[in-house]
Amino acid sequence: QHRAACDIVVFGGTGDLALRKLLPALYYLHRDNHLHPATRVLALARARHELPAYRQLVQRHVSQYVAQGDFDQHSWDSFAERLDYMSLDVSQRVEFPKLAKALGKKSDRVRLFYLATFPNLFAATAHHLASVGLTDGRSRIVLEKPLGQSLTTANAINDGIGSVFDEARVFRIDHYLGKEAVQNLLALRFGNALFEPLWRNAHIDHVQISVMETVGVENRGDYYDHAGAMRDMVQNHLLQLLCLVAMEAPVHFEPEAVRNEKLKILEALRPISGMDVQDSTVRGQYSSGQRAGEKLPAYYFEKSVDHDSNTETFVALKAEIDNWRWAGVPFYLRTGKALAQRKSEIVIQFKAVPYRLFGGSNEPAHNRLVIRLQPDESISLSLMAKTPGRGMALQEVELDLNFADAFKRRRWDAYERLLLDVIEGDATLFMRRDEIEAAWRWVDPIIQGWQDCYRSPKRYAAGSWGPDAADSLLDRLGHAWLDER
Ligand code: BG6
Repeated sequence: QHRAACDIVVFGGTGDLALRKLLPALYYLHRDNHLHPATRVLALARARHELPAYRQLVQRHVSQYVAQGDFDQHSWDSFAERLDYMSLDVSQRVEFPKLAKALGKKSDRVRLFYLATFPNLFAATAHHLASVGLTDGRSRIVLEKPLGQSLTTANAINDGIGSVFDEARVFRIDHYLGKEAVQNLLALRFGNALFEPLWRNAHIDHVQISVMETVGVENRGDYYDHAGAMRDMVQNHLLQLLCLVAMEAPVHFEPEAVRNEKLKILEALRPISGMDVQDSTVRGQYSSGQRAGEKLPAYYFEKSVDHDSNTETFVALKAEIDNWRWAGVPFYLRTGKALAQRKSEIVIQFKAVPYRLFGGSNEPAHNRLVIRLQPDESISLSLMAKTPGRGMALQEVELDLNFADAFKRRRWDAYERLLLDVIEGDATLFMRRDEIEAAWRWVDPIIQGWQDCYRSPKRYAAGSWGPDAADSLLDRLGHAWLDER
């Protein structure tokens, strides 16, 4: 199936994101015949590369980052023919005419500008594109996070972009929305009659959303040390997951309808500020530690990180949604780097049975629905069942649905799906400006609260499950993280 012919222009074409994610995703789309034969990819970066050298660089990365067995020379060679490179300094307006020339102003192709660069360049890039007539109705712009450091800075970026591109042509990526398992959450909720009647405070005790990573900051110390886990993960990925769990059924599965519902959730989040910050949030930073015998360095010894850094690499918090459906249900969010296990999951813990008919005080009489996004994609429902034999002893058992087993097909990477959506102009899985603003409006006072009390983050050993305080946060209400420690 071929979409419209387009020019996909990747700013930041030698960066981590382009080489590890975008170009491998485009390779797959090409290989699987999802791109129009005339679609071109033009990568831009400051560095001077001859085209053959750039193609080689990309080939090295693509062959490394696609799944084993998915790289074949024939597909690569034909993909490489689409791939062009141009050295361009985005901060210099005088360099843009050559881009306009390469794209051909009069062509009727869709132009897709993917800004995989630092956000402080976004607004200027948009203006430079406008100055050479590249921002008409056939152009779309894709922005990568972080969209600002705060509400004020996000507004400045959005204003800059908005003065050139109208909102319908701005695609703000949150790659978590491109993950299969995340979309499956919508399928589970709105494609089945089973769960929705129970999906509310009358039946749900609490919700846990964890995105735990084993990696440290890797080569991104420069960026990360100024961001921290709150801005890097919570403001976007975790809040988006929370929205999908909590939102009402949209009227249609279309961009505005879906995003309206998500926005209502963000606006219903109870503000956490002042003293509440201390009670409802935990901030951590990894110190040295080990995993499986391997020594792991402390955060402040990582490359490009300040030795006195107070940046958090871990956040746990208790969020509450003030609306009819969710009043009284805590949503616990947790994310961190250099942890014991890589896993991303959403746990819906239902209320206990009202009365234990079968006695046995130790059994957990809660049902739990676990939606696992990483490392494998699965949905499991824990039920109480009778153990075989005499009497009525109950035990928790799992109904397990593993997507790799259920659908024996290659799993798309989030970026493949999202790039294809941009090509088709479908913004359902992208964030609208008001969502970004609502998210910052909630996050800003928490960060402010941390700054006001000059509290340094709690230390946790790299390779552990995070600071103890994250456990106490739940313990206070008789809850516990669902970990297999
Ligand atoms: C990115 C963050 O948005 O998401 C990274 O900037 C993080 O710090 C990454 O590692 C996690 O994504 P995934 O898809 O590997 O869970």
